[in-house]
Amino acid sequence: MPDVNGHVALVTGASQGIGRACALALAEAGATIALAARNEEKLALVQQEIESKDGHAATFRMDVSNEDEVKSAVKAAIERFGKVDILVNNAGMTRDTLLMRMKRADWDSVLQTNLSGAFFCTQAVIGSMLKQRWGRIINITSVFGQTGQAGQANYSASKAGLIGFTMAMAREVASRNITVNAVAPGYIETAMTEGLSADLKSKVNEMIPLGRAGTDKEVAHAIKFLASEAASYITGHVLNVNGGMLMG
Ligand SMILES: NC(=O)c1ccc[n+]([C@@H]2O[C@H](COP(=O)([O-])OP(=O)(O)OC[C@H]3O[C@@H](n4cnc5c(N)ncnc54)[C@H](OP(=O)(O)O)[C@@H]3O)[C@@H](O)[C@H]2O)c1
Repeated sequence: MPDVNGHVALVTGASQGIGRACALALAEAGATIALAARNEEKLALVQQEIESKDGHAATFRMDVSNEDEVKSAVKAAIERFGKVDILVNNAGMTRDTLLMRMKRADWDSVLQTNLSGAFFCTQAVIGSMLKQRWGRIINITSVFGQTGQAGQANYSASKAGLIGFTMAMAREVASRNITVNAVAPGYIETAMTEGLSADLKSKVNEMIPLGRAGTDKEVAHAIKFLASEAASYITGHVLNVNGGMLMG
């Protein structure tokens, strides 16, 4: 099992879905988890779940689109645990509509959360990683950041931007033994996708060679691997977790 023992992981969007599964998986593999999101009640439930299995976690409320909130939550996490050496930029949102109908606010909120949020969090934790000359940053992008998707110009742009951000950061901090990678999920069953119609879900499944949606746990396994010592020579990479939906 990939080992992250002794490390402190900050996971954004840890209140549910992929972020929650990732927090549980990293805690099970020995990391202490700083759980970040806006919904404090849900975060507290994830903390309880981790502690019930003898893991260590604490909650830090933050809206990733708000730079000041990110800075003070990260400061609090570092004060509490002494460092953050794994960052999972997972918090994300959609506001889907065709470009013709897309409001400036739909564009801005998705870019500010999905892309600027990752920038704010990375900037807030990078000092801690540089200091100890070890770090893992994992950005959760999407297959639609690789292929584009009609009705998701804002989301696709934010997720493609995250891939560029990943590669630039990987080059910038490699000499300090910090790796920066992205995980690109395909169609995963979470709250984000539960609103899709049954018809659309079955059409999407037809596009997936493995013939089914993925689970949040399956994405968490990939994140845990990239966070571990086992992935020490991988940086600037985009790891697809998409059932074969996009290859190459
Ligand atoms: N599900 C899929 O098929 C799929 C596919 C590809 C990529 N992804 C990506 O995977 C990530 C997780 O998605 P999911 O499917 O697990 O979605 P989800 O169930 O909707 O969870 C989204 C998480 O992001 C947090 N979040 C949203 N806006 C935030 C903000 N401004 N500040 C802090 N936290 C915020 C939410 O927490 P609070 O509401 O408590 O703040 C929640 O924990 C996203 O980046 C998404 O784009 C998902």
